[in-house]
Amino acid sequence: MTDHVLVSIEDGVQIVTMNRPDKKNALTAEMYGALADAIVTADADPKIRVTLFTGAGDAFTAGNDLGDFAKAGTTPVDQQPTGKTNVQRFLENLAEAKKPIIASVNGLAVGVGVTMLLHCDLVYAGTSATFQMPFVNLGLVPEAGSTFLLQRQIGIQKAADLFLTGKKLTAEKAEAIGLIADVFPDNALPIEALKRAKALAAKAPNAVRVTKALLKDNDRPRVGEARETEGRHFASQLRSDEVKEAISAFFEKRTADFSKFS
Ligand code: COA
Repeated sequence: MTDHVLVSIEDGVQIVTMNRPDKKNALTAEMYGALADAIVTADADPKIRVTLFTGAGDAFTAGNDLGDFAKAGTTPVDQQPTGKTNVQRFLENLAEAKKPIIASVNGLAVGVGVTMLLHCDLVYAGTSATFQMPFVNLGLVPEAGSTFLLQRQIGIQKAADLFLTGKKLTAEKAEAIGLIADVFPDNALPIEALKRAKALAAKAPNAVRVTKALLKDNDRPRVGEARETEGRHFASQLRSDEVKEAISAFFEKRTADFSKFS
């Protein structure tokens, strides 16, 4: 158990809060484990009809903990008895979830913080939320089927613009290009997102589950294929000198220098 992920249930909604605000809710292996377990619990527990992901403080999540990334280059930090890492379990459970998952993006969403949104069924954000996928800036590549999902969702030019430049999108822009469903004033977001989650939880559960499946099932094989291919490249980049340079630069608060790489 970790208190870096808080879980509660309210009127059929499982509220899952990433709770490491001093580190902008950057995700550790332990946190991924708790998030992965919450999805399994939701699918198994008839009292839960919808899961709502959000973040504590002023961030949704700053993505994978960069210290863990640095260690992962040399040691399998969170290998589970299943042979899968917690991050793999989380991303697979998220992609395969049977019940709806809503994200309430209350601030910055970076890296996997955006990747996970592509697997959620509904994404709401506060006005000041931002969205950024700086994988390339870190010497990494996209993950979890996102090269397929993102271009399917917003088109290849917009997807390339996010992946290759690592630029930051505002909530307004994210809504305009179809990355998210709706934007609310920051202070109204928690109430509005929970209200919508509860309304969904009150609907006919089987109709909701089947509708979710109908929306997702056609793409499942392509997503699985992309997830596997991306995973191989991601693992190999994680061990690369490009990543070492990028992560050292982050913690040394300097710009990464990739000029020596070919
Ligand atoms: N991993 C580990 N620690 C992180 C982190 C991450 N992904 N993101 C933020 N933190 C830590 C910072 O190191 C800092 O810790 P400190 O107070 O001990 O120095 C703390 O969280 C607050 O972050 P800070 O950078 O001071 O806040 P900011 O508002 O100026 O910037 C971000 C926020 C998210 C833009 C910036 O922290 C950032 O770029 N983080 C890296 C994001 C990233 O690359 N994620 C992986 C994507 S694949």
